[in-house]
Amino acid sequence: MRSGTADGTIGLTRSPNNDGFIKISVKDQGIGMTKEQIDKLGSPFYSLKESGTGLGMMVSFQIIRNLQRKVRINSEKDVGTEFSIYLPMI
Ligand SMILES: Nc1ncnc2c1ncn2[C@@H]1O[C@H](COP(=O)(O)OP(=O)(O)OP(=O)(O)O)[C@@H](O)[C@H]1O
Ligand SMILES: [Mg+2]
Repeated sequence: MRSGTADGTIGLTRSPNNDGFIKISVKDQGIGMTKEQIDKLGSPFYSLKESGTGLGMMVSFQIIRNLQRKVRINSEKDVGTEFSIYLPMI
């Protein structure tokens, strides 16, 4: 599934792995992140946005951790970012 916006395209894909998990990916063509920025994701109040609270990723990571799931982040500065979450197939 792809959703076009004025500033780019956000891709949403889900793909079953053969290990019993489904990978759900959200991929953007945004500003991307450096390795150092990725490492700071999830720290409370870490934000590079003018009006960001810096709590979004912290809450998201908490929810994923509570569900005992994994998230993988692939990002390249000035190219884009992909977040992948692995969920068990029922
Ligand atoms: N998809 C992304 N591409 C580039 N940078 C990102 C992406 N997602 C998060 N970031 C960076 O991580 C920072 C922290 O994100 P987080 O969602 O925790 O806070 P926020 O978006 O700034 O504020 P809010 O609490 O309103 O969500 C962002 O400010 C941004 O710099
Ligand atoms: Mg956010």
